[in-house]
Amino acid sequence: MTRMLLMIVFLMSTDAEALRVIGGNVKVVQGGTAMLSCYVMDTNDDLTQITWQRRTREKPHNDNFLTILPRDGPQFVSERDDRFKYIGNFNDKNGTLQLSNVALKDEGSYTCIFTLFPSGNQKTEIPLNLLVPPFTSIKDNLPTLGTEEVLFATCTAAGSKPPAEVRWLTGALGDKVRTTTNSTQYDNGTTTTVSSLFGVPMREINGHQVQCVISGDFLSKVESLPFTIQVYCEYQLLM
Ligand SMILES: *[C@@H]1O[C@H](CO)[C@@H](O)[C@H](O)[C@H]1NC(C)=O
Ligand SMILES: *[C@@H]1O[C@H](CO)[C@@H](O)[C@H](O)[C@H]1NC(C)=O
Ligand SMILES: *[C@@H]1O[C@H](CO)[C@@H](O)[C@H](O)[C@H]1NC(C)=O
Repeated sequence: MTRMLLMIVFLMSTDAEALRVIGGNVKVVQGGTAMLSCYVMDTNDDLTQITWQRRTREKPHNDNFLTILPRDGPQFVSERDDRFKYIGNFNDKNGTLQLSNVALKDEGSYTCIFTLFPSGNQKTEIPLNLLVPPFTSIKDNLPTLGTEEVLFATCTAAGSKPPAEVRWLTGALGDKVRTTTNSTQYDNGTTTTVSSLFGVPMREINGHQVQCVISGDFLSKVESLPFTIQVYCEYQLLM
């Protein structure tokens, strides 16, 4: 009994060390270039074909989109997309693709399939995730002198992926101001985040400098938008 168990363990471990398809996980900023790296290791099998499949938000089922044959090279299955370039090497059993000018619609899962003899089809899946930087802006709500709390300004980070973190640095103003943040997610996976700055439009708040700070994976450094709170008198706005 023990001997049989040992034998099974042995067989399983040799199997695990045999043929492997190596892929990865790719994160790329919109407009950038992605390497969809895929190759087979530890096999002496013959490779007859490499097939690439993908599924995206628009086409959620795996579809063949590119095949690579030793003689003909890469062939698009349906429409041609020259942003894809085969940069692997068939003889090295390397199916690596390069995708340039990556767009949000390319996000999804890419599968490379190696058709090997005698072991059959071997595959691995490579998720492609996009980072989309936001459009950022501050809008002054033109508050007028008064004693009730009003909206001073909104700071917007529009259409980012993943969602942006948006906050206000209000320094010495402390609890004289208040902020709220809300966000809306769109079907294409991007999010718009809006942070609002509220306070009582008193004279002593006029001229104070604050900053809206936007951060997220899509930016190599934090973005900071300066804003000067201006409390207007009614007549200034009428002019
Ligand atoms: C596969 O091809 C890519 C692109 O040419 C290369 O960067 C990578 O090192 C290759 N991988 C192996 C294991 O040969
Ligand atoms: C966030 O809330 C503000 C009001 O505070 C509203 O005007 C705006 O439409 C909301 N924005 C989003 C993206 O939900
Ligand atoms: C995502 O969808 C929103 C809302 O429809 C749109 O405004 C935005 O441009 C889209 N973003 C991209 C990168 O396609």
